[in-house]
Amino acid sequence: MQSIAKVLSGDSLGQPVGVHGWIYRTRSSGGIVFVVVRDSTGIIQTTMRKGVVSDAEFELASSAGIESAVEVEGTLAEDKRAPGGLEIRASKFSLVAPSEPFPITEYQSTELLLDQRHLWIRSREQTAVTRIKAAMLRGGREWFQENDYVEVTPPMITGVAPEDSTTLFQIKYFDRIAYLSQSAQFYLESLIYSCERVWALTPSFRAEKSRTPRHLAEYWHLEMEAAWIDNDGNMKVQEELVTAMIGRAAVDCPAELKLLGRDAADLGRIAPPFDRMSYEEAMASLQKSGFDTSWGSDLGAVEERALTKERDTPLFVVNYPKELKPFYMKENPDDHRTYKNSDLLAPEGYGEIIGGSERETDNSLLVDRLREIGESLDNYQWYLDLRKYGSVPHSGFGLGLERMVTWVCKLEHIRDATPFPRTVARVYP
Ligand code: 4AD
Ligand code: MG
Repeated sequence: MQSIAKVLSGDSLGQPVGVHGWIYRTRSSGGIVFVVVRDSTGIIQTTMRKGVVSDAEFELASSAGIESAVEVEGTLAEDKRAPGGLEIRASKFSLVAPSEPFPITEYQSTELLLDQRHLWIRSREQTAVTRIKAAMLRGGREWFQENDYVEVTPPMITGVAPEDSTTLFQIKYFDRIAYLSQSAQFYLESLIYSCERVWALTPSFRAEKSRTPRHLAEYWHLEMEAAWIDNDGNMKVQEELVTAMIGRAAVDCPAELKLLGRDAADLGRIAPPFDRMSYEEAMASLQKSGFDTSWGSDLGAVEERALTKERDTPLFVVNYPKELKPFYMKENPDDHRTYKNSDLLAPEGYGEIIGGSERETDNSLLVDRLREIGESLDNYQWYLDLRKYGSVPHSGFGLGLERMVTWVCKLEHIRDATPFPRTVARVYP
């Protein structure tokens, strides 16, 4: 058996070939059954003619339902009307396993598709998203490898809250309380003292009650932390990494991107440096467009969309007011109201995909800020220790994988960027 993509390459034209997969659709016409077969690499038309295959095989092919598992052997021939311009003229058809009537037909409600997610992920769109995401991760891994970063494995059960503590998932941990990780940042910060440059890909958990097209309760978080770099260096890593990730997807998945309405060539044109705009400039620009915002207003989905909807490359917004960001960021020496941080906004209105900053290295400032926000210092003693034993300038960021996939794959909702989305309304399937 060969992959359908291999057969569609046409190398075996006029020769015997065999494929196995699932029935994508069937149609009968006179003494012929057309069975379009799908595997992980594509779809191909196979034709069963009465008299060429046995009567029993012909019967099976005529009656087998969509998603039945099948094997077909025959001769590869040209057929202009077939998808890919080739078909297999079958000499042998076997039914590996029949399918009950498939619950998903052409037009279905979003709710039904979510209830049937374990089956809907077989769709060509979802398969394309899965492959593009894998290519993006491959590109990211390659970039980290080439730039001497060490991949590390932080814990997902934790006692600290790097981000907004109202979004913590609390769990019963033996006879204590613990949390599911919002971010591996503090653990990565600990590891830079031995490895200097580290990265990790882990699930992160946010108990976000809001139902929005860009929030998941569980998402995959690609985080990096490096010693001896300031926030400018941090942003350079981000633009190179993002370019490497989409570059790999553009090279490896042009057909999948096209299926989703994204031109790989457009992605291929994205390159460093990305534009930079201060939070203050962002506010001014929003006010000009009629937004009722002022210093201290957060940039939500609507504001981020307004800033980026006409752009086709990502945009850094830098130096947010301290009151909008977490306690661990480094104060901006040029403007004490702000931090040395950045959010990277995807183009076309997709919004924030990365949050990053230089980290505060002064123990006493961190203690003051933790007290201000009412956190118990006991839980953070180990984190504060990092500032006592050879504290060095360092920076890092977190990239929301599904957020980036939503942009790259032109999706309307972040739930389609992951096979089994976890949202406030759903843990099934
Ligand atoms: O901006 P955030 O909250 O930053 C951090 O967690 C830092 N501690 C990361 C670091 O510096 N190591 O989250 C980082 C990214 C966001 O930019 C966004 O892309 C994604 O994580 N994200 C979410 N993605 C999906 N659903 C959610 N509920 C998300 N919350 C954040
Ligand atoms: Mg953020």
